[in-house]
Amino acid sequence: MQKQLANGLILRTLSEGHASDRERLPQFHADINGEGETPEAKNAFIHWVRDLINTHPTMTHDDFFVVVDPAKDDMIAAATLLIPHRWRYEDIPLVVGRPELVATHPDYRKRGLVRALFEAVHERSAALGQQMQVITGIPYFYRQFGYTMAVDLGQHASYPLDVMADAPPDTKPAFTLRPATPEDIPNMIRWYDRMSRERLLSENRSVEEWRYEIMGRDPNSGQVMDYQMIVNAAGQAVGYLDMFGFRWDKYMINCNCYVVGEEANYLETFDDVIRALKQWAQAKFGERPPLLSFAGGLHPSVDALIDRTHGGHIHTREYMWYVRVSEMIPFLQHIQPVLERRLIDSGAHGYTGELKIGFYDLTGICFKFERGRITAIEATQGKDGYDVSFPWNLFWNVVFGQHNSDEIRAILPEVGASGKGKVLIDILFPKKKSWLKGVN
Ligand SMILES: CC(C)(COP(=O)(O)OP(=O)(O)OC[C@H]1O[C@@H](n2cnc3c(N)ncnc32)[C@H](O)[C@@H]1OP(=O)(O)O)[C@@H](O)C(=O)NCCC(=O)NCCS
Repeated sequence: MQKQLANGLILRTLSEGHASDRERLPQFHADINGEGETPEAKNAFIHWVRDLINTHPTMTHDDFFVVVDPAKDDMIAAATLLIPHRWRYEDIPLVVGRPELVATHPDYRKRGLVRALFEAVHERSAALGQQMQVITGIPYFYRQFGYTMAVDLGQHASYPLDVMADAPPDTKPAFTLRPATPEDIPNMIRWYDRMSRERLLSENRSVEEWRYEIMGRDPNSGQVMDYQMIVNAAGQAVGYLDMFGFRWDKYMINCNCYVVGEEANYLETFDDVIRALKQWAQAKFGERPPLLSFAGGLHPSVDALIDRTHGGHIHTREYMWYVRVSEMIPFLQHIQPVLERRLIDSGAHGYTGELKIGFYDLTGICFKFERGRITAIEATQGKDGYDVSFPWNLFWNVVFGQHNSDEIRAILPEVGASGKGKVLIDILFPKKKSWLKGVN
């Protein structure tokens, strides 16, 4: 793929085969995305991008986009990439594309290069059949390309490690840690799927992606993970921890998820897991930082244990994924089995009628129901006659379980809903947490 842009610039993919693009891209992202970071962190960017180019399980060279300037020896002026993901909406598989590492060299900013890159990324994403695009981006910027901020991301809870006293010498813990191996993958998938049942969006990783997560990355990559199995006294693995191997912030260690299967529980493993993580940090980094930070993959019982710890904190202001769904009706039809399931035994059980949702741009959609089944989801037009209306892509905040219509209405009074609109929208799209990291 190659496109001619203004001022002689060229937008192309790595699959065009220009060795200079491939060789320069890691340093480009280290310089631009890693601006102001330590040399160690810049190096972590370089190894991360090399992994993406050379060994990532779902990316091809068609998924790396660069803008080069032929007048300056093809220097890279801007770049981004698209990581194919497989997610789920409850039990419905989703094909997802994740733009990452968006960057423009300072000499080329505000010339529409990222806008041009995102057009190319969205074309590629559509060609791959991806039903939504997601990005962990800088605030606001991606709203300009049709995204809304709608799914939890980032630090969910913090635990002060010094609060947990070390076990007295000679105590044998009931649970210990050991590094994960590829043989652990079937159990990890089973436990992951079990915990995902409580979540709205979750990942649907292949065995190959799990292998890459556990052992496929360069140890110097900023995204390297250290998977540790939680093992009982009989040597049986009962769960796992997904720890970040690179510390972007030196005052803490980061845990992406803490998962225990039906072989044990959170209450009995918690103290030993925390103590073992203190030892893990000492062995890995030569020190025990004061904080253990957890991302969203945390059971509510662990939330409660952290919340009841002096200095433990459950964050109320998480960061979020930006999400974009360009084909609204096919997407809603795809998740229709989940929506029909939500109607069963609800206040609209067996409902026959219509729900019209407007978007304040003279367009809307109409759900048609017959005895609790959705018989059609159709486009509609016009200014009036909607049961509920949302501006600015905020409908997706409701579809992805982040907010209900009343919460949006609290700051945007134009999000009005009739009685019928309120009842149906709350039943079809209840608030629900998601759990995503995304192999990157
Ligand atoms: C943010 C960044 C990628 C923008 O790149 P760019 O090539 O200048 O972006 P574009 O020129 O394509 O801008 C697209 C639109 O966003 C606007 N825009 C540019 N930078 C913006 C910013 N930082 N915040 C909000 N809007 C911005 C432009 O005015 C333009 O609007 P228009 O199309 O209506 O005229 C670039 O400044 C950069 O590389 N920053 C450092 C790395 C970074 O933060 N990357 C993002 C990581 S998620």
